[in-house]
Amino acid sequence: MQTIEAPTLSAQGAQIPAVGYGTMLFPVPERAVELIAGSLEHGYRHIDTARKYGSEKWVGEGIRASSLPRKDIWVTTKVTEENAKAGDFERSLDTSLKALGLDYVDLLLIHWPQPKVPLEETLGALAKARRGGLAKNIGVSNFTVALLNEAVGKCSEPLFTNQIEYHAYIRQDKVIAACRKHGLLVTCHVPLARGAVLKDPLIRDVATSHGKTAAQVALKWLVQQPDIVVVPRGLEHFEIQENIDIFDFELTASEMSQISGLRDRNQRLVDPEVRRPVWDEG
Ligand SMILES: NC(=O)c1ccc[n+]([C@@H]2O[C@H](COP(=O)([O-])OP(=O)(O)OC[C@H]3O[C@@H](n4cnc5c(N)ncnc54)[C@H](OP(=O)(O)O)[C@@H]3O)[C@@H](O)[C@H]2O)c1
Repeated sequence: MQTIEAPTLSAQGAQIPAVGYGTMLFPVPERAVELIAGSLEHGYRHIDTARKYGSEKWVGEGIRASSLPRKDIWVTTKVTEENAKAGDFERSLDTSLKALGLDYVDLLLIHWPQPKVPLEETLGALAKARRGGLAKNIGVSNFTVALLNEAVGKCSEPLFTNQIEYHAYIRQDKVIAACRKHGLLVTCHVPLARGAVLKDPLIRDVATSHGKTAAQVALKWLVQQPDIVVVPRGLEHFEIQENIDIFDFELTASEMSQISGLRDRNQRLVDPEVRRPVWDEG
């Protein structure tokens, strides 16, 4: 089997592999452990999970099945907005670690903002997890510019990343600029727009000219931008393998800019009514 390890990006003195394996919604749970272990065999060293996904147990089993040293694998998990109060947050992290069978995660994120709980309280619990060694790094997800500014100002420990929806069909310039200004990496969730960008004629043409697939070009367009990490999901081994095999070619400046133009479609896919903040436009 071909093994490809992604290069790493650094922030706050830590190194995160630029491609992680997304583990949201495994429609066939019986295959989850095999797929996660398979991703590690293909060379992935970064797994993205969350309490909300129900995949933490399988992530832990997949890691143990791989027999890789713990320190070689980057594990991210998240605390849901229902657990934004400090006590609930701590219990959620404890449950996550037990489900994973790990004594720390590499990155712990606030999954969604929670307007009903003061942000200071949740950030206090997040920072405490880092100080206590339960999370080596901490960050946020689905935070807008205003929320990010507030979080950076109020968190006593440095933030590592903001995990946001970003792919070729959505413009996120403002929030990405805010992440860079504060020294945070950007982690892109739904980097393939849940498959929508794979049918795009421009992306397909660029893929053909490089002898690559549309998925590889869509992911390359992301990781070729500064400070960007991607966490695609794939339920087929060929997809898992393809999605990390993106470091042996470069998109030209013209291809980068043409694909960037597709963002004017502004298709936001992850926008749950109950959780959405007031998004930044553009
Ligand atoms: N922080 C957040 O709020 C948040 C929200 C959403 C997602 N996430 C994270 O982001 C990860 C990725 O998001 P996602 O899974 O929703 O969407 P995605 O990665 O953009 O797209 C996944 C879809 O693309 C297909 N696919 C993947 N690789 C392919 C390839 N090489 N060729 C053809 N098709 C391919 C997948 O097929 P299969 O059906 O075979 O998988 C699936 O249908 C999640 O798993 C999760 O870890 C985070």
